[in-house]
Amino acid sequence: MKKIVVSAPGKLMLFGEHAVVYNRPCLVGAVNQRLFVEAEKISEKKIFISAPDLKISDFSVSLNDLNKEQPKEVKFVLETVKNFFQKYNIESGLKIKTESQISSEYGFGSSSAVTVCSIKALSGLFQIEMKEKEIFDLAYKTVLALQDVGSGFDIGAAIYGGVIYFLTGGKIIEPLKVKDIPLIVGYTGFKTSTSEIVKQVKAEMEKNPEYYENLYNQIAQIIEKAKAAMENSNWPEIGKLMSENQEILRKFKTPSKEYGVSSEIIEKLIDACQKAGAFGAKLSGAGVGDCIIALGEDKEKIEKAISQAGGRPVSVKIDYQGLKIEKIW
Ligand code: MEV
Repeated sequence: MKKIVVSAPGKLMLFGEHAVVYNRPCLVGAVNQRLFVEAEKISEKKIFISAPDLKISDFSVSLNDLNKEQPKEVKFVLETVKNFFQKYNIESGLKIKTESQISSEYGFGSSSAVTVCSIKALSGLFQIEMKEKEIFDLAYKTVLALQDVGSGFDIGAAIYGGVIYFLTGGKIIEPLKVKDIPLIVGYTGFKTSTSEIVKQVKAEMEKNPEYYENLYNQIAQIIEKAKAAMENSNWPEIGKLMSENQEILRKFKTPSKEYGVSSEIIEKLIDACQKAGAFGAKLSGAGVGDCIIALGEDKEKIEKAISQAGGRPVSVKIDYQGLKIEKIW
């Protein structure tokens, strides 16, 4: 095999953000914005990367310099290559091209998607059979080395697709039988730093561990109910559970005393969704900004309400296809 193209979807947290960092489950959905990696073996002892979406056209690094600090646009790909070569005792020049439909505006997980795609592309090129869980473990190791916090749920979504029940670090990854979720997504207008918020929550949690353990236990209970409701396509029940999950996220004591990991704009968008007939709504991800999600039958009406409340509807659906090979030469 000379050349390979693979793709993986982005993600949206449906239930369980923050709690999943502390050994509780979450439910995550893959979204139909995909990332593509094309990889080719070359004889020169260098890695060439082009990533037009990130305005990288002619980056190259010698194989001997893979241990050095790399620019942020290429560091996930290069850390993956380094870890893959180390694990399988390989050394080869490569030409890699990434192309993304995953908007960098929202936190849809392009770093995880590029990491799992790179592993799959390399396993194809060097004909190393890797099970999904092995891809997960190598991707999780790679991502953790670069961003120091994270439960790995985004990697799970990129590999498995659809909706998964996921426990911290991939201790459980269970694809759920879910179809046609009436999901609506709204963007607050600004992105937030997940690692900043996770660190703030951690600092506060260290002051009052019992308070947070209790909140996480409540979230975990909601997730068990949401999992059952998903498998029965019980959307009104899932909507109600989303609102319950949101209520707990408001009880965090940071970053805001008033809203916890939620915020005024998130509350405004959620309120607008509910008034427009949504079954329920919540923030999705670390909180403060980024996206909210809602469940409801009248998508048009709810999206209009999001716009009128100052947000922006984001047109995405659950992608039932996880990591896949697109083309081989
Ligand atoms: C961020 O999208 C979700 C968090 O739970 C962090 C993580 O699970 O890695 C806050």
